[in-house]
Amino acid sequence: MENINKYIARSLEDYNKLYNQSVSNPESFWEKIASTFVWRKKWNNVLSFDFKKPEFKWFVGGKLNISENCLDRHLLDRADQTAILFEPNDPKEKSQEISYKELYQRVCKFSNVLKNNNIKKGDRVCIYMPMVPELTVAVLACARIGAVHSVVFAGFSSTALAARINDSECKMLLTADGSFRGNKTIALKEIADQALINCNTIDTTIVLKRTGQKVLMNSNEKWWHDEILKVDELCDATEMDSEDMLFILYTSGSTGKPKGMVHSCGGYMVYTAYTFLNVFQYNPGDVYWCTADIGWVTGHSYIVYGPLLSGATSVMFEGVPSYPNFDRFWKICEKHKITHFYTAPTAIRALAKHPISYVENSDLSSLKVLGSVGEPINKEAWNWYNDNIGHNKCPIVDTWWQTETGGIMLSSLAGVTMQKPTYATKPMIGIQPVLLDLEGNELIGSDNEGVLAIKFPWPSIARTIYGDHDRYKNVYFSTYPGYYFPGDGALIDSKGNFRITGRVDDVVIVSGHNLGTAPIEDVINSHPNVAESAVIGFPHEIKGNALRAFVILNDENNCKEIVNEIKNLVSKTIGPIAKPDIIQIVPGLPKTRSGKIMRRILRKIASNDIDNIGDVSTLLNPEVVDLIIIGSKDF
Ligand code: WT7
Repeated sequence: MENINKYIARSLEDYNKLYNQSVSNPESFWEKIASTFVWRKKWNNVLSFDFKKPEFKWFVGGKLNISENCLDRHLLDRADQTAILFEPNDPKEKSQEISYKELYQRVCKFSNVLKNNNIKKGDRVCIYMPMVPELTVAVLACARIGAVHSVVFAGFSSTALAARINDSECKMLLTADGSFRGNKTIALKEIADQALINCNTIDTTIVLKRTGQKVLMNSNEKWWHDEILKVDELCDATEMDSEDMLFILYTSGSTGKPKGMVHSCGGYMVYTAYTFLNVFQYNPGDVYWCTADIGWVTGHSYIVYGPLLSGATSVMFEGVPSYPNFDRFWKICEKHKITHFYTAPTAIRALAKHPISYVENSDLSSLKVLGSVGEPINKEAWNWYNDNIGHNKCPIVDTWWQTETGGIMLSSLAGVTMQKPTYATKPMIGIQPVLLDLEGNELIGSDNEGVLAIKFPWPSIARTIYGDHDRYKNVYFSTYPGYYFPGDGALIDSKGNFRITGRVDDVVIVSGHNLGTAPIEDVINSHPNVAESAVIGFPHEIKGNALRAFVILNDENNCKEIVNEIKNLVSKTIGPIAKPDIIQIVPGLPKTRSGKIMRRILRKIASNDIDNIGDVSTLLNPEVVDLIIIGSKDF
């Protein structure tokens, strides 16, 4: 077997060379990368695809098991190395170092628990658990026996959980008695009980004891610790076809019910590991920490699969950045000598609001690489991250990708390719992005702005939406036939660097001018008294659309003056056309649980359509909606 290191770019020249190979002959390129993994049977052909159906198949006819690649194959050379480093919510509770060998044993045992409870290849298992090591064990155990995992973020409500269980007809639910988040204890089992009232496909529920709180157990509900005592230590991995389903992960669409994105075994394995090593430039001995939750794709690909496939040490954190204090992230970096730190701009902005002493009191000298994911990172946040966390010596990788893409699509490679603040920069090796105009023509050359599209398949592209292939086709392949359409706008600078400008549905045409709301927000956020803002378009008689900014201030004295300053600042920085017609000072912004602002709700408020705001129950802060409607000030 070849070593994957041979194909990791260590210099700009390497990147250029590998990139050229990957686009001039994708099949022979990906075949080489795939050969660095353990396959039970080699593929017959590398790729077959059809954008019209749409259908994508990678490593066709190949047989493998991804858990064998994450665990078994590391037993020879790194059995005692830490695979998962667990940091609990409470800093007084001991952290845990779980070696590759121990993780292997725990996964084998739990695989046998699943089998004992009648779970077979192809069955769907819903996982609704806190960020504890057993969550990773559960994910890998499903993968080991060929069951399809559907992880639901443990912050979701019972309604959201039930909808996801029912959509994919899960046979089993894995959950816990409760979960610790900051100074709160969440009654996870109670929420699950509520959900299960409306689900009839679940045969068995297995409950992990985490908080020790009292829970009700029905006859088909079993304790994790009891089940584990009944099984053997060994479990052979089930042979899977490269195109067999590995997992379903739900993502919200612009409207309607959540989309169950389906990922398959072979391509996802090859792509997540390859991008992990290239983007983060992980080396043996490094301690890598992605602060996401495994309930999101970032956690699937870059806490569990990418790092473990690569034999890395991956940190799992159970808690929140504000508990017990706003220095928790930095204290963890110090405690575990974190080398790679990967987080979201929303966390960076939130932490940057607090006194810098929180950062300065922690030793961050172990850090080598910083990462950002999930939304465009604005200049202020980028600079704060670079100056205060990276001390101007850590490359920052701004990674653009999606639940649907499975892995990172645009990013610099840490310390290898050029970085540029607020730019995701270059395509990953193997990725062929283009910009299109609204008619779908490719914009050739640099210094352009348009919608982003990908014109050639990559191994970890989602294969379908579970149970709804038509929707898959309509959302991603119909607007611009022959391309994958992610729904983001982008620009490209004179050197070919990409900058994501935001969702294309966030572009507002004002008096015939095309305005991205993200750059306007950047300007507003640069005002020293602004904590956060969101700009949306609303219908306007004369201009077609006008802009309304929802702004959170650090200090609400002198609102009127500040509002004028903001208007002048926007006018000066972008142009008078970008000046919001209305600036509304608000106490908070409606956010999804992953930290994204729900602009749909703001648009309804702005167009006075408050009767049709719809379901706000899955918001992180549903109470804020009423506060905005009744309690905020317009200028
Ligand atoms: C959407 C996908 C990627 C995993 C977490 C989010 C936005 C993501 C970036 C970035 C600008 C970004 C895009 C994308 N996005 N990363 N680095 N710069 N925008 O996954 O929930 O599926 O969301 O997040 O708009 O389409 P997701």
